[in-house]
Amino acid sequence: MKRFYVTTPIYYVNDRPHIGHAYTTVLADVLARAHRTFGVPAWFLTGTDEHGQKVQQAARAAGIPPREHADRTVVRFQELWRTLGITHDDFIRTTEPRHADVVQEVLQELYDRGEIYRAEYDGWYDVASETFVTERDLRVPEGGSPADLPNIVRIRESNYFFRMSAYQDWLIEHIESHPDFIRPETRRNETLGFLRTRPLGDLCISRPKSRLEWGIELPFDHDYVCYVWFDALLNYLTAIGYRRDEDRFSSWWPATVQLIGKDILTTHTVYWPTMLKALGLPMPRTVFAHGWWLMGDTKMSKSLGNVVDPMSLIGRHGPDAFRYFLIAEMALGQDASFSEAAFVRRYNSDLANDLGNLANRLFAMIGRYLGGRLPAPPPEPAGGAEAEVWGGAQRAVGAMERALSTFELDRAVAEVIAAVRGINRYLEVRAPWTLAKSADPAPLRAVLYTAAESLRVAASLLHPVAPGRMGDLRRALGCPSPDPSADELRRWGVLPEGAAVGPPAALFPRIEAAAEAAPPPSAVPPAAETAAPAEITLDEFARVRLRTARVLAAEPVPGTDKLLKLQIDLGDERRQVVAGIAKHYAPNALVGRTIVVVANLAPAKIRGVESRGMLLAASAGPELRVLTVDGDLPPGATVR
Ligand code: MSP
Repeated sequence: MKRFYVTTPIYYVNDRPHIGHAYTTVLADVLARAHRTFGVPAWFLTGTDEHGQKVQQAARAAGIPPREHADRTVVRFQELWRTLGITHDDFIRTTEPRHADVVQEVLQELYDRGEIYRAEYDGWYDVASETFVTERDLRVPEGGSPADLPNIVRIRESNYFFRMSAYQDWLIEHIESHPDFIRPETRRNETLGFLRTRPLGDLCISRPKSRLEWGIELPFDHDYVCYVWFDALLNYLTAIGYRRDEDRFSSWWPATVQLIGKDILTTHTVYWPTMLKALGLPMPRTVFAHGWWLMGDTKMSKSLGNVVDPMSLIGRHGPDAFRYFLIAEMALGQDASFSEAAFVRRYNSDLANDLGNLANRLFAMIGRYLGGRLPAPPPEPAGGAEAEVWGGAQRAVGAMERALSTFELDRAVAEVIAAVRGINRYLEVRAPWTLAKSADPAPLRAVLYTAAESLRVAASLLHPVAPGRMGDLRRALGCPSPDPSADELRRWGVLPEGAAVGPPAALFPRIEAAAEAAPPPSAVPPAAETAAPAEITLDEFARVRLRTARVLAAEPVPGTDKLLKLQIDLGDERRQVVAGIAKHYAPNALVGRTIVVVANLAPAKIRGVESRGMLLAASAGPELRVLTVDGDLPPGATVR
């Protein structure tokens, strides 16, 4: 039976997620949802990569043990996935025993079989990527030394190596004979070019504890931990029960598609297949490397400090618009440039103008001319403008079905929007407002039904991309079932006669340029709410003592559904504050985060619970987000 196992890379817990991470996860989610729609059982795995130098360094900088740092950071990913409506079936953390224990078993087995051996290493090491590098990799300028390069250090030490070199010829052959193994073609050529032109070395899979403590200990030498990539890649197996639950494991492995960013191509198309081969396991069908989200023409990355926080866009425009933007804007496999302007352009054109307007017009006409009730389905269109508009919707179904194996969702989405434009054109051509004047109601009914039925197909195809709003739209159209199905996509006449059709509450309201430029409402309280003068002096502002605080613990205030009681650390003292944020944050979501509080607010009792200070939050409509500090600062720092 056909089935679909999709994975994302597991994300480092050294910092908060940005849109690069959100992209891979949303892409996997849309593919998983689309497969479920088309009736293919899907398993979707994501998670976090919690060992290694990067995490150890980040924890040191924060002054806490790595495990605690991982525990605090992992919730940011989990919270973002929840906000985005991600439907992963499992979330693996590499610090969990179900992973770490199996990694140790794998290491022991490969060591016993001589696939892993000990040797002296003397060479260059890139601290940033945690890899051993050759002078050739580094492209040292004439007369220079690798030691002059940032992050490059000379290392002489004993280590353990995996006999990766033994698999070079096999790997070339595998890639050549499986055109779908590495996608897109450019990435396949990149890996093949690399493999054909230079001898593959063995892979150093250990790090002495003297240099790195934070990792899975080698079972055969307690002075070493496992190299983070060797540990991390195995998550794709351990999460589905490798060596623990043979039935479950064999029902999902090999993976159908492993999504990655192009920066981790070598680890996934050279290290990973050779590891699998050594373990006697089949290869994933496809490793798909997508492009980068750029800011201008530079990669968005934490180290460059140019990352976009997805929460801000989601807070303003909702998770569906954000998901739609990511999928529609990036041509799969290529880089895409992020800007607020691009977001607004894409949103206004596809979602507000084409889709939103169509829904509004159609609902208004069904309301006005048919009393808000759907007429009986006319016969399936066989010619004319009707066949054209229904044919457009069916072409979009075909495009989405193809995207299930090519993964080119951007193309499928473009086809759906083309179908939506087709429905708008159809209404122009058939002009229901003119038909409404005729004595024969049949043509008017047929036109409105055809438009509604075609829009149902478009909404259903976009459901995996924008599940919230498209669910609303389907309901508003009178769809009999909450989730779309393959059969329903191809069938004419699904919307039942007499179904009440009502407008969904503001599907995708247009973003006005002025609204975008305005500061968030939290910064400017409406004049009516505060009797404060329009301007204040710096001295007046300085009377408010704003300080950073770290959230230590949080729990609901019993008997309320709005209040959380937070224990916070202000550096020199601990306090309790009560905040009305329980509808927006799970209690543990803020633990570990650095927030901003008004420190000199007079103490108060809220519902009988003492509160000393007030946290700052921004709200826009129903959305509310707590202000947090970008990067790490000790608690108690002054905010001004
Ligand atoms: N932990 C490793 C992956 C181990 S998988 C066994 C890792 N983590 S990461 O957090 O640094 O990156 C995870 C993914 O996010 C990578 O696929 C990477 O390509 C992707 N992105 C990070 N920045 C990105 C952009 N600016 N744009 C698109 N994706 C990018 O690597």
